[in-house]
Amino acid sequence: MTDYRNDAGAIRALVQDDRVHRDVYLSEALFQLERERLFLRSWNYVGHESQVPNPGDYYTTDIAGQPLIMVRHADGTVRVLMNRCAHKGARLVCQTHGNTGKFFRCPYHAWSYRTDGTLLGVPLKHQYENTRMHACETGAGLVAPRVAVHRGFVFACLSAQGPDFADYFGAVLPVLDNLADRSPQGELQVTGGCLRSVMRCNWKMYLENVNDSVHPVSTHESVSATARSVDEARPDDAPVSMALQQLLPFGSGYEFFARTGARVYPNGHSVLGTNASIHSGYTIPDDYRLAMTQAHGEARTHEVLGFSPQNVVFYPLLALKGSPQTLRVIRPLGVDRTLVETWGLVPRGAPQELLRRTLTYNRLTFSPMSVVAHDDLHIFEGIQASLAAQGNPWVSLHREYRDDEQLQPVQDVSGTNELLMRNQFRAWAALMAAETPQDECGGEA
Ligand code: FES
Ligand SMILES: [Fe+2]
Repeated sequence: MTDYRNDAGAIRALVQDDRVHRDVYLSEALFQLERERLFLRSWNYVGHESQVPNPGDYYTTDIAGQPLIMVRHADGTVRVLMNRCAHKGARLVCQTHGNTGKFFRCPYHAWSYRTDGTLLGVPLKHQYENTRMHACETGAGLVAPRVAVHRGFVFACLSAQGPDFADYFGAVLPVLDNLADRSPQGELQVTGGCLRSVMRCNWKMYLENVNDSVHPVSTHESVSATARSVDEARPDDAPVSMALQQLLPFGSGYEFFARTGARVYPNGHSVLGTNASIHSGYTIPDDYRLAMTQAHGEARTHEVLGFSPQNVVFYPLLALKGSPQTLRVIRPLGVDRTLVETWGLVPRGAPQELLRRTLTYNRLTFSPMSVVAHDDLHIFEGIQASLAAQGNPWVSLHREYRDDEQLQPVQDVSGTNELLMRNQFRAWAALMAAETPQDECGGEA
């Protein structure tokens, strides 16, 4: 068996210029390395600050198995802490969300921590006098990863080393500004609950598909055919319903999807739909456009509403849309198990119709009971099983490949170019094959 842990060359050999080896989806050893290297060394979305509006509010989550608490500290800032007591490692908070007041108290031996993670109190304090507890890591309190908040989006990096937030995301960050500026007040709020789906496939299969604009024509053929027949039966004077407006574009042909355009960025990030997307035709309510223009001016409003990408990938675990205002957070559970969370955001100061559009879209396409998602699920789970069977061990990413494509870190391509996937795998190989640094957040990272 290949010793990937100690053989960076073997990892790099899995990602060729125009294809990847099936082990990237199948190997348990590689999945463990992803947890130690890829997810710890990258910046990942934790939550949105609107989930913790008041001091003491917290939300618990994880990044690939690393338990985290996002909490609003007394000074109003949002902090991210490891959900792991400094004494013996007990889970400090078990609820998904709540308000902890001024401090967290461990349920095991009642050590307490301020909401910035510093140690507040220890029972039997005098018994720690003249010990080394306060001078070592334990005395420092809860481990706090590096954190960055951009327009309300909270990200963390669990490794103390590696690029800072702005360098890691670079020129893809203005997409978050676009999303926030869809609010006349410049603020978003998470609302409408969260849809969760567990899929029996590797997380990368899901992420690649976010950028796959060739598959809707065939995979979702039944969706678009049904939508067309409903539309044809619609009386001429009846308006096109919101659901139809959202489902009909799935049947747009290959030419349309190629013309939508895409852009790749360093570190695996991408925008699919730089020119247009299946979301471009949505009606913009007059009162909304007016409120936007009054708040942001004509030019910025035109810029914000004119950019309506199909999917933007903040590699490796976040994908978002501008309209509808939707986030998908990918949570790898195992080499063949992936949890996908779908969140809706409402732009503050915008009419309720925008929220209704987001929730309708999420229900129609991302819910486990949707008419769209089960098409994809059927494909993903089939691939996961079939790749393990006898046959060609390579997965093709040849579409529109060019020998010189790696020379330009940022470039515009057609919406059907598989460069977006190749770009993800190049980032994957770079993070996975790099030297292993010692790291105070996750032990050996
Ligand atoms: S494990 Fe938390 S106080 Fe002991
Ligand atoms: Fe799909």
